[in-house]
Amino acid sequence: MTRPTFDPAAPEVAADLYGTYARLREATPIAHLAGEACWMLTRHADVHAAWRDRRLGSDFSHRFAADEFTRPEALEPWRDPRYPHFAAYARWDLLAMEPPDHTKLRRLVSLAFTPRTVEALRAPARALVDAAVARAAARGQLDVVQELAEPLSLGIICTLIGVPTERHAEVLRLSHAVVQMYEPAATDGQRAEADAAVREFSVLVAELIAARRAAPQDDLLTGLLDAMVDAERLTDAQITSTVMVLLMAGHEASVNAAANGIAAFAAHPAEWEALRAGAVPVDAAIEEILRWDPPLQLFRRWVLEEGVTYGGVEIPRGERIGLCIGSANRDPRRYDAPEVFRIARGEPSHLSFGGGIHFCLGAPLARLELAVLVAALAERLPTLVTLPGAVRRAGFQFRGYTSLPVALP
Ligand code: HEM
Repeated sequence: MTRPTFDPAAPEVAADLYGTYARLREATPIAHLAGEACWMLTRHADVHAAWRDRRLGSDFSHRFAADEFTRPEALEPWRDPRYPHFAAYARWDLLAMEPPDHTKLRRLVSLAFTPRTVEALRAPARALVDAAVARAAARGQLDVVQELAEPLSLGIICTLIGVPTERHAEVLRLSHAVVQMYEPAATDGQRAEADAAVREFSVLVAELIAARRAAPQDDLLTGLLDAMVDAERLTDAQITSTVMVLLMAGHEASVNAAANGIAAFAAHPAEWEALRAGAVPVDAAIEEILRWDPPLQLFRRWVLEEGVTYGGVEIPRGERIGLCIGSANRDPRRYDAPEVFRIARGEPSHLSFGGGIHFCLGAPLARLELAVLVAALAERLPTLVTLPGAVRRAGFQFRGYTSLPVALP
């Protein structure tokens, strides 16, 4: 039987992503991913299980050599020798690591994300949101992405790590350039840009490290410099990758989630009214925003062992499986009327933060930022009206907007 193929670059995906998923999900639990030697899981139960399946991994190099089992076209683009800076970064990128290295590094970074540390960011987050709204008030409109969500998420993660304000814009620019590597349809030019941006980003982080060594502060970077794992300090390469991953993960997805959420409310005025009336708690609404239109669509795993079967297909060792969040979150086998945006649903069972050992380390922080942003706008705006000029972010992996103006009467 020929299996259906999902092509993230196809015009119907840009025009109707969730309709395309729905048709594919009903046709098959497992599809081919176009342009890559990779399978893709479409249903909630499979994606949920795959995240916890230790026969799958975010890396393979601890188990076998690339040319032993893996087809060259299955390799991640950054393993291409043309992108050495990206490969050096990925060596200590938490998302691309496996135990035991992953366990050690993650334990250490988790120390910075205790419930207390995160809760302490609520007041600074509210202050950033209020300042953004106040700045835009005179113009009668507010760009939810550029004027609100970006300053909020970037401001919080940069403060946590210890990046001075004058370098925030640079972090934003470099981060957007680096994450191009994760887009399935990226061109060689975009990948080369991503590699060059990693290089520039590493220099920025090296300068921050030098500054902290000279004058320690009460921030995460100083904490990483002091931290000991198994009686050893982290290397500069480990610290650099960790800081970069936190700076990027700390805002790219949250900003898109905020924009997707506000766009969803603008298209569903009765839900906005229910939120404003206090009929549904803001925390429940955040879960529905994340389920209904997740900012990150797809993560991939390597098959590390023989005998792995999903959707009736045995996938050989050394091949890859894609875990499609956007499709899983709309699976009617898991959710009643999944295409309906209904904030009272408040289902935390969505897969937008992943699962298993790589479950999003920043999930509590992301939830807090989203709750603060949505609550502040709900207090301020009796009706939520988007204005002309909204621009969707190009690409597939990061789903959101680059600009989303709303009226601020
Ligand atoms: C709405 C916002 C966010 C979404 C949807 C999201 C989603 C995800 C997902 C799906 C993963 C798992 C990737 C995988 O399994 O390969 C992940 C991992 C991660 N996220 Fe988030 N994230 C968000 C915000 C944040 C924030 C604010 C931070 C902040 C500091 C953060 C830091 C991380 C880190 C460090 C990892 C890697 C964890 C590991 O590999 O052990 N994320 N995120």
